[in-house]
Amino acid sequence: MSFWGLLLIGPALAGILDKGDPEKGKALYADQCAVCHSIKPGIHGHLGPTLAGVMGRRAGSVSDYDFSPAMAGDGRIWTPEALDRYLEDPKASLPGGRMKFFGLKDAFERADLIAFLKQISER
Ligand code: HEC
Repeated sequence: MSFWGLLLIGPALAGILDKGDPEKGKALYADQCAVCHSIKPGIHGHLGPTLAGVMGRRAGSVSDYDFSPAMAGDGRIWTPEALDRYLEDPKASLPGGRMKFFGLKDAFERADLIAFLKQISER
């Protein structure tokens, strides 16, 4: 990536997002997400939709889950960058969304978690 490309994306994203550790992400998922989400295909969690196959999927599109109108009508694709923005601050990233999660402020932790979500989506 060019110098100007790095400047545009910003230091928080440049590089960090590609270097996540899925093993650390798995532990973070167990600690912070599993209470509401599952990673089993077709089986939703206690409150949230399954995260199986989430990477590359359109937001709010998994079947048999009742998304908020905000999420269902949003249309964003869950790329690593989109997940990074959402997980940092779900409320700001998706006004009207229903995920009651305060956000993960540490960019390295987000990268680990996203590496894990990528890994489970490739299975
Ligand atoms: C308190 C419960 C709760 C916690 C904790 C939680 N979520 Fe969620 N999550 C939800 C709900 C509810 C939705 C659906 C939001 C909507 O419809 O607006 C959601 C939606 C999502 C989506 C969008 C899924 C899709 O198919 O479009 C992603 C991605 C996601 N959560 C990831 C995470 C991750 C990663 C964590 C852990 C850091 C986490 N969530 C923690 C409840 C939770």
